[in-house]
Amino acid sequence: SSIHDHTDSHCFMKILQGNLKETLFEWPEKKGNGEMTKKSERVLRENQCAYINDSIGLHRVENISHTETAVSLHLYSPPFDSCNTFDQRTGHKHKVKMTFYSQFGERTHCEISSVLRNENLALSCMPSGSK
Ligand SMILES: [Fe+2]
Repeated sequence: SSIHDHTDSHCFMKILQGNLKETLFEWPEKKGNGEMTKKSERVLRENQCAYINDSIGLHRVENISHTETAVSLHLYSPPFDSCNTFDQRTGHKHKVKMTFYSQFGERTHCEISSVLRNENLALSCMPSGSK
């Protein structure tokens, strides 16, 4: 994923397959005009759980393996329909809309490519015309 916040929600995450590296960042200064500060990084292994919220900071989650697939399950409470992504070099933020690959067991109208592009927002794609 890109570096992102969690819109004042709780985020629980479980690694279902493979390993993922989580890098934590501090919130950028208000103006957001410089390299973002890294707080920590760790590798989350299969079956491990993790938690983050906005008071802990921002994070980026990535599969550092070029050969092993990684699958993670993210639970957000309360649910949210947009969050911010951040540019590591400038701290500038950019609001992005969450979308959903499926809802209530039904495939939504989003394109698979937009799901893959969003990665961390892999819940990608709101059904058209509804909220
Ligand atoms: Fe996240």
